[in-house]
Formats: sequence, C-alpha cells, structure tokens
Amino acid sequence: MNAEPADSEIRPGLVVVLAAGAGTRMKSDLAKVLHPILGRPLLGHVLAAVLDTKPRHVVVVVGHQREQVVEYVNRDFPQVLTAVQDEQNGTGHAVRCALDALAADGIDLGDEPVMVVAGDTPLLTPATLTDLVSTHVATGASVTVLTAELVDPFGYGRIVRDDDGGVLAIVEQKDATPEQTQIHEINSGMFAFNPDTLVDALNRLTTDNSQGEEYLTDVLAIARSDGKSVSAHQGDDPDEMHGINNRAQLAAATALLRDRINAEHMLAGVTFVDPATAWIEPGAELAPDALIERNSAVDAGSSVGSRAVIGPDTTLIGTQVGAGAHVLRSHCDGAVIHEHATVGPFTFLRPGTELGERGKVGAFVEVKKSTIGPGSKVPHLSYVGDATIGEGSNIGAATIFANYDGEHKHATVVGDHVRVGSDSILVAPVRIGDGAYTAAGSVITEDVPAGAIGIGRERQVNVEGWVARKHPGTSSADAAASSKSTE
Ligand code: UD1
Ligand code: CA
Repeated sequence: MNAEPADSEIRPGLVVVLAAGAGTRMKSDLAKVLHPILGRPLLGHVLAAVLDTKPRHVVVVVGHQREQVVEYVNRDFPQVLTAVQDEQNGTGHAVRCALDALAADGIDLGDEPVMVVAGDTPLLTPATLTDLVSTHVATGASVTVLTAELVDPFGYGRIVRDDDGGVLAIVEQKDATPEQTQIHEINSGMFAFNPDTLVDALNRLTTDNSQGEEYLTDVLAIARSDGKSVSAHQGDDPDEMHGINNRAQLAAATALLRDRINAEHMLAGVTFVDPATAWIEPGAELAPDALIERNSAVDAGSSVGSRAVIGPDTTLIGTQVGAGAHVLRSHCDGAVIHEHATVGPFTFLRPGTELGERGKVGAFVEVKKSTIGPGSKVPHLSYVGDATIGEGSNIGAATIFANYDGEHKHATVVGDHVRVGSDSILVAPVRIGDGAYTAAGSVITEDVPAGAIGIGRERQVNVEGWVARKHPGTSSADAAASSKSTE
C-alpha cells in the first residue's frame, strides 16, 4: 500500500494499533482516541507516525464507540484497515482479532516484523518506531519491547529482568508484588515481534491474572519459556510513551507536543515571544523570520509568510498570511491576507475574505466572502459581506454592506479609489463606480456612477432658538444663552 522502500531500509510488515478500549477514565461520549491534541485526534497522531515508517499494512483494532473511530480512520487514513474486537478481553486478545481480520482478508503476514502500538500514545515519533524495529532485526530477537525508565512508574507494566539483565516477563501494576512495584523500567506498550513467535504465543495466552484478560505482555514470558530470545530496548525520550487515560494527561501531552512543534519552528528561524502560549498545529507553515506573539494559534491549514507578525491574541484557521503582514488580536477563518496588509485589533475575517497587498482591515470590522483590493482600507467598525472592493478605496467608519434582504444574499461592487463616507449603508445589489464618493450617513440603494457622489439622506434643517423655547432654564439653554452673549 505504500511505496517500496530502499533495500537497506527495515520496515514493519504490519503495525497493529490498539484502540478498542473503553477509555472510561476520560468520562466522555467521544471515543478516547478521537480526543484531539492540537487539532488532530490522538489516533491521528499515532497513525501519522506509524505510516511514516512505511509499513506494508496497518490495522487499527476498534471496539468501543467503533462507528466513530472507523469513520475517522476511513476518512483520514483510507489506506489503514480496521478490525473489530467485540469484547475487550485484553491487549493480547485485541492483537489476535487484528491477525484474524487480516487472515480473513487473505493477507499473509510474511516474515517481516509485526509491531504493536497503542492508539493513545500521541507523542510517539517515527524515529522511535524505526529505531525499535531496526534494533529488533539487528539483535535477532523474537520479541523486542520498547521500555523507559520513569520516575513515577505507577500504573505501567514493569520489566522484570534476570540477574544477567535478560527480560523474564512484564508484570502489570495490578499483578505486581511489592518488590516488583519498585521497578522503574516500564513497558511502553510498543513491541516488535517475529510473526511466528507472536501467532504461536497469542494462541497460548490465559486470563489467569487480576483483570481476567489476555495480556499481550504475557507473550514475552511465553517466548522466553520456549527458549526464544526476548529483548528490551530503552527509548531515548520517556515523554513519547505517555499513554493518555484521562483529561489531565491529555492536557500534559498537548503541552509537550506544543513545545516540540514550537522548538522545531524556532530552530527553523521563527521567533516566538512566548512559546508556552503559542499553539501551532502540525502542518501549519511558518516561514523563517515570521514572528508569533503571545496567546496565538495557527491551525494546520494556515501559513504565515516571512516577517509577518501574528498576535498577540490571534487565531488563524485555514488562513494564509503573506510576507510582512500584521494580524493583531483577531480571529481569521478561511482568509487570504496578502503581503504587508494589516488586520486588527479586534477584527473578524470569515471564509472567503481576501485582503490585498498593503490593504487594511481595522478595529471591530467583520468581513465575509469579500475581496478588498490592494491598498484599500476598511479601518473601523464595519461589516463587509459579499463585496468586491477595488484598489486604493477607503470605506468610512461604521459602513455597513447590507447584503441580506431577509431571504437572499446580494453582492456589492466598489470600484478603485472610491471614498465611502462614514456610516454609509450600501444596500446590495449596488455598484459604486471608480473614483466615486458617498456622503457620510447615506443609505445607498442605487448605483453611483464613476466620479459621482451619492447622497442618500435628508438635508439638515436648523430650528433657531428651539432649546430656549422648549427647555428654558436648563444647562443647555444657559450655555446657548452665554454663547449668544459672546457672539
Ligand atoms: C498497557 C500494558 C502495560 C503498559 C501500558 C502502556 C497490557 C496488559 N498492559 O496497560 O504493560 O505499561 O499499556 O501504556 O498490555 N485495548 C484494546 N483491547 C483491549 C484492551 C485494550 O484494544 O481488550 C487497547 C486500549 O484501547 C489502549 C491499549 O490497548 O489503546 C492499552 O490498553 P490500556 O487498557 O490502556 O492498558 P494499560 O492498562 O494502560
Ligand atoms: Ca493505557
């Protein structure tokens, strides 16, 4: 399913991703593995890392909330297979379900290593997986488990070794003796197996343990008792092995991933004023010399050009920001902001917004499905919807593009170098010609030809002496009277 790797490259024949568990500790209607970290479900992070190792086949074992999980896998990872584990009888049973599903599909395991990873370890990197499978092949072991030394190993399976350092078994927390709970080397839940050893041992698992489940971890003791070589490989970074079981671990892993992503961008030349409050999703493109201010988020579908400044307090969703543009305290969704344009503070750009080079959209302005040409400005307090604005035009403060008649949306076209007066209402469909003006406070219902001024309001009438007659003795009347006396 993936491109054939070079001969020298070692890759897994099959990777089984375990994702059938209930995830009870998340206390959620959403399947645990679908909880997002930086815009991507836990399972998505795992599958991205797994696919990077170019395995021949990948199977996700699903059970709890399986409809949601299968739908996600089919949509985002169509090359990945799924296998159903109807009852969650343990991690060993789950792997057996995966192998049965493959056999039913007529897929032969071959003799390449089989890897097993958990679907709830989003910090896993492809390098660690490749390292594990290469070590497995290089040592000629039948089973290799990826381990880590943890300061607090509570809850994890412990690696029990003999006096020579050989791996005897993995003992779960709940089954461990008090001495075994003192062991700090833990099972990450990631393994490389020789297919024969795996298939044979899976058929001999028992449920003779405190949880009454078939433990995948028992494969090691079985292989060892058969005289096969069982090996443990310590990973470099224990953070990668964090399994997410509850929301606190979800938040902790999110912070770790954020730091990892931000560090990569900083090494690539992007400035972060406060990396702890910059949330850059995997896949976001930041050019060298971009500047990310505090409290800002850039999603996977967004890009930021060189010397552009994002934030503080800005969110970019599916938005492209050109070189040298500034986006300050704004929410931008589906927008294109060209070079040296400025946005904000407090601006809302909605899908279909295109802001031309050196254009400006200022404070308290909302723009939807509109093109604002190069150098054109909408500086204050406006709504711009379904509009096309040419070059070098200025839209006065508090202008509203009235695009909705209650049933349908209509378009407004504003030409080049137009001056729309403050507080104009442009009632669509309407066109303002090149170089035209509108008078402040106008309701423009008819097209304004090029070079004309559109005036759509009553003429002002001043009624002399009105305050003195209607509100005698008030401070206003007094002020008017003293103003008169000094004239
Ligand atoms: C498991 C390991 C433990 C290891 C830890 C690492 C076993 C018996 N224990 O414990 O040694 O230190 O992972 O995080 O393997 N799952 C299924 N079907 C099942 C049971 C589980 O698909 O019947 C899946 C879960 O969805 C999860 C993964 O397997 O993705 C691990 O299961 P979990 O219950 O979280 O195991 P741990 O108790 O964490
Ligand atoms: Ca777990």
